[in-house]
Amino acid sequence: MSSESRRILVVDNEAETRNVLSRILRREGYECMEAADGEQALVLVRCEPLDAILLEVRMPNVDGLEVLRQISLLDGELPVIIVTADDLLRHAVNALRMGAYDYLIKPVDNVEVLRSVRTALRDHGSNHTRKPLRGLSEQGQEGDCLKNTMGSSGAIATLSAEVSRVACSDFTVLILGETGAGKELVSRAIHAASLRASAPFEAVDCGAIPDTLFESELFGHEKGAFTGSDRTKPGRFEVAGAGTLFLDEISNISRGCQAKLLRVIQEKKVTRVGGTKLLSVAARVVAASNVDLETAVTKGVFRSDLFFRISEFVIRIPPLRERKEDIVFLAQRFEGQASRHLGKVGMHFSEGALHRLQDYSWPGNVRQLRSTVRRAVLLADEQILEEHLGLPAAPPFPAENPNDDVAMPEDGSSLKQIVYRITRMVEKTALVRALGTTGGTKPWQRACSASTTRPCSAR
Ligand SMILES: Nc1ncnc2c1ncn2[C@@H]1O[C@H](COP(=O)(O)OP(=O)(O)OP(=O)(O)O)[C@@H](O)[C@H]1O
Ligand SMILES: [Mg+2]
Repeated sequence: MSSESRRILVVDNEAETRNVLSRILRREGYECMEAADGEQALVLVRCEPLDAILLEVRMPNVDGLEVLRQISLLDGELPVIIVTADDLLRHAVNALRMGAYDYLIKPVDNVEVLRSVRTALRDHGSNHTRKPLRGLSEQGQEGDCLKNTMGSSGAIATLSAEVSRVACSDFTVLILGETGAGKELVSRAIHAASLRASAPFEAVDCGAIPDTLFESELFGHEKGAFTGSDRTKPGRFEVAGAGTLFLDEISNISRGCQAKLLRVIQEKKVTRVGGTKLLSVAARVVAASNVDLETAVTKGVFRSDLFFRISEFVIRIPPLRERKEDIVFLAQRFEGQASRHLGKVGMHFSEGALHRLQDYSWPGNVRQLRSTVRRAVLLADEQILEEHLGLPAAPPFPAENPNDDVAMPEDGSSLKQIVYRITRMVEKTALVRALGTTGGTKPWQRACSASTTRPCSAR
């Protein structure tokens, strides 16, 4: 079997030792993952298809033998090669008693490392493909938990199945959906259903980070790296450890920063601003966007290579108006929460209010539904009526009207064309709103029916 298909995990708190070992192994064509502590190591053993582990038994605040014990509980067949200092050989002896495959003495010797790894792999066969399959079957039903939070429509059933399928893989995930549709909720569900659940979930709002701070925020910085950096700060990739790094509104990253992000995701290595050490990245990346990234790629504002890297699996959350079956379920849930919060009892929706909720187009999706219901619970005594919802009679924006035939100005339109089209859009919105307030009747129609003397040619 080719060494390229074999994946080795190197566990050591010292970046220097990890680098030396990884370099030796990579030169031989092995794929290397790195973990800086026992917790990261255990998450990677759960999540990643591995063939062997090089484990330092003496790390600060970590009992390496305990890590070894837990690794063998998770996967008794995975060969673990202990790395230790020669004054701590007794650790190696204990580790061998506990089932470790072999041991190496620091400073490590290239030939010894490769000999030990090769024989371990030969004796244990390939573990590489078995691990993700185990993860998937174990997590089979967990994606159903979305039904309890998001609804029971067919769209949510599909979404639940997708979440449970992808959760245990190491695929990057791109979640697409309109604002307020629940992208962060779904990313948290993926993390919770994954084998990384015990590691951190780190959410980064990419739109809120100025370009100049992007690198230091995501990759960290060393003390004195720039004016005002009076202490070393780990980046968000480091903070996420072996957990999930959620990159929200990823379309808001400038092209320059997109290139830097791509390099880190691809190489799984990061260097803090002002630093020289290469730190390994173990977090799984889940990104979200409320703009269509494929179109952004076509327009040249989003790098296609980064798009392909972050979208190994794509999840689309349908807007609320396309899954009307979920509206009543969600509204009743939000009513229950708000009633408990406000100490109200016996609250319920009138038939009219329920119909109104289902008829509305919800441009702000679940977020808007939740705040609408909360306000209604506050305003109503027991029965929530249509008027408590305070929903506008007509869709608030022309773009949400599916029959809208007024096109947005295209790039390259003349100023005159742009002004003409925008004027038409504004006129149309005003007319739609006015018709909404009159229940769809035009004022001159009302005048005609009220007075037979008025000419009706305006119709
Ligand atoms: N199914 C749901 N049940 C309960 N709350 C929900 C649900 N979906 C969304 N929410 C709530 O609606 C709000 C918006 O959800 P979330 O932040 O996940 O949406 P988003 O798609 O990330 O929105 P944005 O694009 O604006 O960031 C949050 O307060 C979230 O708790
Ligand atoms: Mg969000």
